Amino acid sequence: MGRIVFAGAMSHVLDPDYYEHACGEAGRRSTEACMAEIARMGERLSAARAEALVVVADDHLNAFSFNCVPALCVRTGRTVQRMVQDHAEAFDRVLDHMPATYPLHEPLANAILEQGPEAGFDLALSWEAPVDHAFLSPVNTLHGSRPIPPLVPIWVNCFVAPQPTARRCFAFGQFLARVIAASPWRVGIIATGGLSHFPELALARVGETDTVFDRRLVHWMERGEHEPLLELGADELHKTGSHEFLNWMVLLGAITPARAVVRYFGELPRINLAAVEWTLA
Ligand SMILES: [Fe+2]
Repeated sequence: MGRIVFAGAMSHVLDPDYYEHACGEAGRRSTEACMAEIARMGERLSAARAEALVVVADDHLNAFSFNCVPALCVRTGRTVQRMVQDHAEAFDRVLDHMPATYPLHEPLANAILEQGPEAGFDLALSWEAPVDHAFLSPVNTLHGSRPIPPLVPIWVNCFVAPQPTARRCFAFGQFLARVIAASPWRVGIIATGGLSHFPELALARVGETDTVFDRRLVHWMERGEHEPLLELGADELHKTGSHEFLNWMVLLGAITPARAVVRYFGELPRINLAAVEWTLA
């Protein structure tokens, strides 16, 4: 009988140089403090002896393109490559020193894909898409020099309307939990991104955040009150710069009604950085 042995969520631009450039010395300090907490979370993840690590993140229109925008996509195969881009954003250049190839947990990815249609999830799948900072910055910060378990990368379409709903993402997470429970594996799950910020995809609002909204999200997660989060609409997530919270909704579905413990929450002019861990039964 499988089970989820670790659950965490965190911001995914983890680059002190980038935020020092964007926000000054406070940007560096905040990013380093957040990364230190993520590293401590990683020690607990490693101690939990996860045999697979599901990573729920979003595409930044670099793994996929307007040629096809999958709502929910599971990466399968034996290995996945670190993304290499000719004109990488600064925060993707931090990938340069990271390992180029990562093992995948192909049997778990295939179980998710194969059980999806009966459960109402006709999932996109990829054997080729590479992974960017949204996957690799958290994964490498969590593990440091320790071995990284085989990954199951999952992309959620957070930015291209019409996105999947918060309710749909939550239901997908519940489905993931059922697949894991029926499997023989100990599985960790992380969701990445956020909190409130506007990436270059919304250029007019770069530099804004909505801290009041983020604190509401955190409050509900701490109390394990997930009902109000199901009501989040695309407009609200767009207005508040919390597009990437859809990734977190998948994780919440997988572990509900577990309560969140906030390991780090830091406001910057550019983004609210966060690292959150769930207390699992
Ligand atoms: Fe992002």
